[in-house]
Amino acid sequence: MKAVATLALLQLYISATADLVTAEVSGNVPIETALSASPGDIVVLPCYTAGKVTPLVTRWTKSGREIVTGGDPTRRFIVSPNGSLKINGTMPGDVGNYLCNSTLPDNSSFLARVLLQVTSGPENVSTSISPATALSNRTLFTYRGSSVTLRCSSSSYSSQHLTWAFRGDSSSNDSLVSGSGSSLEFTIQDIQPSAQGFYSCRAHNPVSNVTVNSSTELLVYYVSDRHPECKWTLTQNTSLVQFTCTWLEVYPTPKLRWDMGPFQVADSLNVTMSRSTLSDGQTVNCTAQDQHLGPEKEKSCSFTLKLPFPEGEPLVSTLEASNVTLTCTETTSKPPAITTWRKGVQQDYIESGSKYILSLEGPVFKLTIVNVTKEDEGFYFCHSENPLGLRELEVELTVKTASSAYTGVVIGIFIAALIVGSAVIIAKVVYNSRDRICLGGFGQVDDDGGDVLSLVESDDEQVFQDAVPRLPPITNGHHTTLVQIHRIPSSDHEDAETADTSPQQQEDTVQTEEPVELVEF
Ligand SMILES: *[C@@H]1O[C@H](CO)[C@@H](O)[C@H](O)[C@H]1NC(C)=O
Ligand SMILES: *[C@@H]1O[C@H](CO)[C@@H](O)[C@H](O)[C@H]1NC(C)=O
Ligand SMILES: *[C@@H]1O[C@H](CO)[C@@H](O)[C@H](O)[C@H]1NC(C)=O
Ligand SMILES: *[C@@H]1O[C@H](CO)[C@@H](O)[C@H](O)[C@H]1NC(C)=O
Ligand SMILES: *[C@@H]1O[C@H](CO)[C@@H](O)[C@H](O)[C@H]1NC(C)=O
Ligand SMILES: *[C@@H]1O[C@H](CO)[C@@H](O)[C@H](O)[C@H]1NC(C)=O
Ligand SMILES: *[C@@H]1O[C@H](CO)[C@@H](O)[C@H](O)[C@H]1NC(C)=O
Ligand SMILES: *[C@@H]1O[C@H](CO)[C@@H](O)[C@H](O)[C@H]1NC(C)=O
Ligand SMILES: *[C@@H]1O[C@H](CO)[C@@H](O)[C@H](O)[C@H]1NC(C)=O
Ligand SMILES: *[C@@H]1O[C@H](CO)[C@@H](O)[C@H](O)[C@H]1NC(C)=O
Ligand SMILES: *[C@@H]1O[C@H](CO)[C@@H](O)[C@H](O)[C@H]1NC(C)=O
Ligand SMILES: *[C@@H]1O[C@H](CO)[C@@H](O)[C@H](O)[C@H]1NC(C)=O
Repeated sequence: MKAVATLALLQLYISATADLVTAEVSGNVPIETALSASPGDIVVLPCYTAGKVTPLVTRWTKSGREIVTGGDPTRRFIVSPNGSLKINGTMPGDVGNYLCNSTLPDNSSFLARVLLQVTSGPENVSTSISPATALSNRTLFTYRGSSVTLRCSSSSYSSQHLTWAFRGDSSSNDSLVSGSGSSLEFTIQDIQPSAQGFYSCRAHNPVSNVTVNSSTELLVYYVSDRHPECKWTLTQNTSLVQFTCTWLEVYPTPKLRWDMGPFQVADSLNVTMSRSTLSDGQTVNCTAQDQHLGPEKEKSCSFTLKLPFPEGEPLVSTLEASNVTLTCTETTSKPPAITTWRKGVQQDYIESGSKYILSLEGPVFKLTIVNVTKEDEGFYFCHSENPLGLRELEVELTVKTASSAYTGVVIGIFIAALIVGSAVIIAKVVYNSRDRICLGGFGQVDDDGGDVLSLVESDDEQVFQDAVPRLPPITNGHHTTLVQIHRIPSSDHEDAETADTSPQQQEDTVQTEEPVELVEF
């Protein structure tokens, strides 16, 4: 039973009620009371609130009709000695205006009015949100993009007002929808993470002024369509590599694992591997799982590890006082290698300065040696190292001095003279034996005479080529003698690292093999 203090508001209500007779007895101001009771409640309607004098007799009327308590067989209505009316088991029909008239010992009348409301609820307020799944703590979750229907129902006698409100990260307590009736539902189409928060249904009974709330936390999960990202981070220690697997735009936090390791709940998972556990061609995988979707929806990223493979020209020659650039291309290495230039047997680390200029053009590492001197001659190493291992490109630099170029010219002239001389001798021999040989005899003579002369050169091709005097080809001659100049590398570069560079090397050789055509007299 809810007793509510007399209010001006109620005064208005009572004034508006046609069947209520405002009884005025001189000296007495009617006392007005509003009461609210639920069906079945025992309610006491007060009459003589002053309570000091026991009334001689009290009569209660409801809407102008007297309540005959004595003739009530159920004895639901009982008038107490102090004048109050007790209703044993209120029923909805008991709603109304009650008036008591007590006669006091001094023959005066005491009047009091009571407004009785019979109301109940709201009770059994229940909410349902679907589609959604409950977690162990009764919080619900749904997936982004779902159409979620929220329904609230409540029992209330006589009427009620239902309101759905939302409190999330960006809204404090927004009223979403409201209405009267036993239930209220609405749908959120294509639900987004911003709709994550607390949904509360408020059921308000305006008669009893009772409000009941039911609040539910709803989480909006989402899984990125994208794959996790596999990355590497090189450390100070070149034989170690840190792999990082990151799967963003996933809520709640996904489960990640590297290769066959255990799954860990994290957005990002690092693993450090060392040279001893890595091998060329090995594939490193990261598998990512949504916490709730499990293995069916798992995604992965991976990469295949590759040893470094620095490539370039193994033999370079240049003239003294010029600038020369050695190049080394590293495109294979995974993870990327640290590529440096080194010099000599000691493999001294080359740093950029006035003598050496280091530059990088895409994957091409360039070393420019400024104002080359004879001392710069020797071996250079393009040193490429990644966590899997180390590979080097060996480059031999030869420096031609102006005098050696001159020597080349002298040798060239000498050889040319030698060839011309031998040709003259052969011609003379052939001429002298012309009676002994027929047409077919020429072949024999050719064999004996060694028409094909191979010159073997171990020096730089460019300089040498320039130094060899070229006789103009004579097209009307009878026979041609071919002079082939081969270049044989002065050191053995045919190791594993430079094996692939052999086509380039061959190309160089072909250039060198420019035939020198001589006319046989
Ligand atoms: C109250 O009761 C007295 C005596 O029974 C009567 O005279 C009086 O008119 C009543 N007052 C009202 C407002 O009914
Ligand atoms: C009047 O009597 C009833 C029952 O006897 C009691 O419940 C009520 O409190 C009393 N009222 C006053 C004002 O004393
Ligand atoms: C109220 O009514 C019930 C039955 O309806 C009865 O058992 C009970 O005794 C009554 N109480 C009073 C105080 O009259
Ligand atoms: C009260 O009224 C009755 C009759 O209405 C009368 O007999 C009685 O004397 C009165 N008493 C007083 C004290 O006025
Ligand atoms: C409220 O729920 C309880 C238990 O579930 C049930 O006994 C009662 O009848 C319900 N009340 C209403 C008004 O529906
Ligand atoms: C319920 O559990 C989820 C997931 O563990 C958590 O995010 C949420 O805050 C919890 N809710 C409450 C009300 O404890
Ligand atoms: C938000 O509204 C609900 C229901 O209307 C209420 O239960 C809750 O206390 C309110 N919270 C705030 C912070 O206003
Ligand atoms: C209803 O109750 C609230 C507090 O619960 C109060 O602030 C408000 O004034 C009440 N309204 C009425 C009409 O009694
Ligand atoms: C993983 O490594 C990166 C880079 O070293 C670092 O920034 C990050 O905090 C690490 N993450 C974890 C979860 O350890
Ligand atoms: C890595 O992933 C590929 C392709 O998904 C798979 O073939 C391979 O077996 C995986 N390797 C490991 C070590 O899990
Ligand atoms: C060699 O390089 C230096 C430095 O870049 C430059 O000053 C010089 O002109 C270059 N010499 C030749 C011959 O290209
Ligand atoms: C190149 O080096 C030689 C010998 O060290 C030196 O005499 C000459 O001045 C240098 N030339 C340049 C352009 O630096």
